Amino acid sequence: MPSESQSGLSESSNKAKAFDPLLNRLRRWYARVWHIPRIHRTYRSKNLAETFGEVYRTKAWGDNGTPFFSGGGSRGPVVEKYCAFVVQFIGDRQVQSVVDIGCGDFTVGRQILEAADVRYTGVDVVPELIQHHQNTVHDPRVGFLCADATRDPLPSADLCLIRQVFQHLSNDEISRALANLTNFLWILVSEEVPFEPTSYNLDKPHGPDVRGFQGSGVFLDQPPFSMAVTEVWRFTFTPHSGLRTVLLEHRALGLSSS
Ligand SMILES: C[S@@+](CC[C@H](N)C(=O)[O-])C[C@H]1O[C@@H](n2cnc3c(N)ncnc32)[C@H](O)[C@@H]1O
Repeated sequence: MPSESQSGLSESSNKAKAFDPLLNRLRRWYARVWHIPRIHRTYRSKNLAETFGEVYRTKAWGDNGTPFFSGGGSRGPVVEKYCAFVVQFIGDRQVQSVVDIGCGDFTVGRQILEAADVRYTGVDVVPELIQHHQNTVHDPRVGFLCADATRDPLPSADLCLIRQVFQHLSNDEISRALANLTNFLWILVSEEVPFEPTSYNLDKPHGPDVRGFQGSGVFLDQPPFSMAVTEVWRFTFTPHSGLRTVLLEHRALGLSSS
């Protein structure tokens, strides 16, 4: 997943940090007039499976030598801390089953399973990625399913994880996915966001880019979603941005029991 830093748009050497305000403005300008429009042109006519299949094939989120790489945001201290939080959540609520929507390269899921004894289903829209996991992961607690969360039936579980998935979708696709989350008691949605955004939920077409390039981010508690969510965890990358996790509870969603 491309945080701004992963795409080289906000990564600064110490020397460059002295020029941060100017550099950041230049990067944002470059992103706005060239980089982002080019990404949108590339994926506009493709559906979600084609889009993210191509993202993986072309290594748009980087290349660590494995067939599928979900990006630097799926690794490192943020993942360790996130997994520790999820494991604690699982223990506190006696969660027995987890569905991980947009499981990607399974780095995060694998780490959770090392510390928590739960049944786990990884769901992703890219068929070849799911096939790869089905061929290579041999853990009786684990299964994988190819499904598009915006429209396909999803398995049920106590807990649903959606981590750095919505940030790559349009607002309409996010709304459709939210309406499809009927099978869970708890849903944890994690998004990379600026903590003082210039706008909330700036719409964009689906693709490997994120709203952070334009100073925005996915905030489910803000229009057009305006959902009753509780911020339960955040990991601060800089004083201005980080990974924000919100909890959606079944009752707060106004969903009937499944
Ligand atoms: C940036 S990766 C995140 C992977 C993982 N959640 C993590 O945090 O490391 C986003 C993943 O979401 C998947 N995805 C995007 N839209 C989806 C949809 N509508 N249904 C299921 N998976 C989707 C992509 O194929 C990709 O694997």
